[in-house]
Amino acid sequence: MFIFILLPLLITLCYLYFYAKFSFWRDFEVPYCVPRFLVPKYADIQSAYNEAKREETVIAGTFRVTRPIVIAVHLDVVNQILVKDFQNFQSRSYHQYSNSEALSLLHQAGGDKWQNLRSRLSSILSSEKMKIIVPTIFHTGDGFNKQLSTLVGERGKIIDITNITKRLTVDIIGDCLFGSKDEFKNEFNKMVIKYSLPEKEIIGSGGYLSRVTMLKENIAKKFTKLVNETINYKESCTNSHNGNDFMDFMLELKKEGNLSETEAISQAFCFAVAGFKSIAYTLSYCLYELAMNSELQKQARVSVKEAILKHNGYTYESILDMKYLDQCIKETLRKYPVVPATSRLVTSDFYCILKRGMQVLIPTHSIHHDPEYYPKPEIFDPSRFTDEEIAKRPPCSFIPFGDGPRNCLGNKLAMFQLRIALTSLLLNFTFHKCEQTAEKLLQAKSIGSSLKPEKSIYLKMVKL
Ligand code: HEM
Repeated sequence: MFIFILLPLLITLCYLYFYAKFSFWRDFEVPYCVPRFLVPKYADIQSAYNEAKREETVIAGTFRVTRPIVIAVHLDVVNQILVKDFQNFQSRSYHQYSNSEALSLLHQAGGDKWQNLRSRLSSILSSEKMKIIVPTIFHTGDGFNKQLSTLVGERGKIIDITNITKRLTVDIIGDCLFGSKDEFKNEFNKMVIKYSLPEKEIIGSGGYLSRVTMLKENIAKKFTKLVNETINYKESCTNSHNGNDFMDFMLELKKEGNLSETEAISQAFCFAVAGFKSIAYTLSYCLYELAMNSELQKQARVSVKEAILKHNGYTYESILDMKYLDQCIKETLRKYPVVPATSRLVTSDFYCILKRGMQVLIPTHSIHHDPEYYPKPEIFDPSRFTDEEIAKRPPCSFIPFGDGPRNCLGNKLAMFQLRIALTSLLLNFTFHKCEQTAEKLLQAKSIGSSLKPEKSIYLKMVKL
């Protein structure tokens, strides 16, 4: 009885239900892609993007389970969402909260809470604070190179480059966050290395950027304890408060009544996580491309040396004057945007399609690989980022850090970290392809929260 009457009825009802749900985009005559596994992977987004370009529509659609998601395709729409009409798209599309203490992370906050937190935290990452923090990064780079020289030895060594860039990034973050007190930064480094290298990750994978909420509980506890101890230590002895690390900057805000202790812990965690893989992978991708093209590598090294000569030393000013190195970094962030998509939530109805509560995806990776803006997008070509070439491209065609009032808060710091790490590596070593180096880098299949190479990147490092 069940098999002959109820089962076909159930199947028909299910079919009608999903047909009705998935007809959303069809009714609006917008090209769309139904994800194969309920939640869209980057391949689904790319395929909807391609379809929209073919049909010359300004948006495309997809679904998260059965909920329609808008994909912004035309750069005017991207600009409108991220910049011009930002007040209608202030929040990101997820509101998952971890059961750990790391609750008030800037990434997840929406509306007034976000605005309030962002304006307080912006002062920590201002240009003045960058000038204070940059010598710390120089110092970390130097120390790291000494260790690396021993590892590489006199005859050079084949190395999984991401292991190196992850260790260097952890050192930089540890020094910037915890400053001069070795005990705390060593504990931090041990913690990250233990849980993250070589394969294990500190965090699980989630939606775009929601990875910060997927923190494993034991690590959240350890991190909270470590930051608490650092705060107590810094508050208890006056000479430890030398004012040149992020904990010091946050304690200044706390003293002025502008940041609670929980917020300080959350943000310390947020800075550590936001900068870790993004910086490490960007460095790896850049070194890979420079190893594959020794002429570009030479040019980058020359640009570094010239800037140092011009400014009489390795200074804040010289770092800002390494034009060609900057072009290499930007081309890396173009070809390998480590955050391949960002998103916004529609907070009030906008035209007839964008209804309050809908998620809008900004497909950074697709935009950066669109031949309309970047001919032969698979070729690594830093000359795309001369001032003249940049001026030829429309707004929002290069968005590795997002754009508008809700762009990456750490973008200036990230650029300094990348420039300094690359400078110190290029001044001390050369990078070469070897037998184990893949001719083409494949990305991990499930491009979700962040772009990462499918396999280890082996390069031969030789001391200069
Ligand atoms: C290569 C390095 C990095 C890349 C590519 C990157 C990229 C991004 C992107 C794409 C967003 C979303 C922007 C948007 O939705 O418009 C973001 C947000 C954010 N990033 Fe970064 N990031 C990097 C490094 C860092 C670092 C080092 C920090 C911290 C010190 C940081 C802190 C943040 C924060 C706090 C947000 C949330 C901003 C908000 O919601 O107001 N990022 N990042």
